[in-house]
Amino acid sequence: MSGLARVDVDDGPAFSAWVECYDRAQRHASGADEGWLPEEWRARARDDAAPIHSRLYRLGPAGSPDAVAVAEYNGLDNVRLAQTELYVDPARRRRGLGTALLSGLVDEVGALGRDTLMVRALVAPASEAARAALAFADARGLAHTSTSLRRVWDLDPATLARLEDRRRARARGYEVLIVVGPTPAALLEERARLAGLIAGAVPDAGAGASEQRWDPARVRDLERHVADLGRRLVVALAREGSSGRLVGFCEVTVSRSRPRTAYQWGTFVEPEHRERGVASWMKVAAARALLAVSPATTRILTENDARNAPVIAMNESLGQRVVAENLVFVATL
Ligand SMILES: CC(C)(COP(=O)(O)OP(=O)(O)OC[C@H]1O[C@@H](n2cnc3c(N)ncnc32)[C@H](O)[C@@H]1OP(=O)(O)O)[C@@H](O)C(=O)NCCC(=O)NCCS
Repeated sequence: MSGLARVDVDDGPAFSAWVECYDRAQRHASGADEGWLPEEWRARARDDAAPIHSRLYRLGPAGSPDAVAVAEYNGLDNVRLAQTELYVDPARRRRGLGTALLSGLVDEVGALGRDTLMVRALVAPASEAARAALAFADARGLAHTSTSLRRVWDLDPATLARLEDRRRARARGYEVLIVVGPTPAALLEERARLAGLIAGAVPDAGAGASEQRWDPARVRDLERHVADLGRRLVVALAREGSSGRLVGFCEVTVSRSRPRTAYQWGTFVEPEHRERGVASWMKVAAARALLAVSPATTRILTENDARNAPVIAMNESLGQRVVAENLVFVATL
């Protein structure tokens, strides 16, 4: 028996203790000063019937867990995969708790009919936490399949205005539309089509490329989920002037209750429209639109696979710098 227990987001004290342990352990490993908010965990983990949902787990007492984990189950794109994170309380390491937590997760994931376990560990680059994660994974048979680099982009309105002028001049023949909140019905089909293309366009994290099927209803589900998270969603859409077709999108989200840090979600440009400055124009336009609706926001965090050279070059040209890395491990059960 591993002692793995599920944590219910409606069980106030147990849920608060889970969030506190996760938050503390993640800051300790990564140096990050902000992470997921309790209301965001509630939105992610409340509904097992949602096609994409998370479950929260702990080892040890409900009021003071020894270790915590989260697993995200996606019933739309990859029904074999469980994407997890696991953290042992920093004061309780090297006592076999990480091993017990992993073994409990393996049992749980297998019982749910999934055979691929992905573990992500957000760590400060070249830190003791990075070494511990790599050593633990190696000792427990998890293969290190990829690394994503997290960068921060400090937003300065005057710099953004200058950047946008330059990007607009370069990406002649295109225009950028901004959508704050629900996508206008007339753009929905195209927006869904583009959303479905991104998964096949980025390096595979090691669990097999999963093709994503998107339709207008899924875009609406995403918009509802963002609202449940208590966040705003700002999307820049690139349109080719000659054909009138959408050729790319760029999404940014930010919490309404803690707006300082925004998060970059997907950015995608169709292959035949690349290397014309369209993506970086969308990024800058999305950042400016974000500041217009959320003036307290000062930075955007973004994560990209370390092998994704074009995106990294673009992000660095915008002045972004690395603050942490997500080590990705995979085990086939
Ligand atoms: C990685 C982590 C989960 C390990 O938890 P833990 O309870 O200390 O792990 P265990 O006691 O079960 O260790 C199992 C084995 O992993 C290896 N290991 C774990 N931590 C290590 C470290 N800091 N340095 C070297 N090896 C380590 C050892 O082989 C260890 O066996 P041993 O103690 O008999 O030598 C914990 O350090 C943690 O929460 N880190 C932050 C989050 C994270 O990285 N999670 C994902 C890891 S894939």
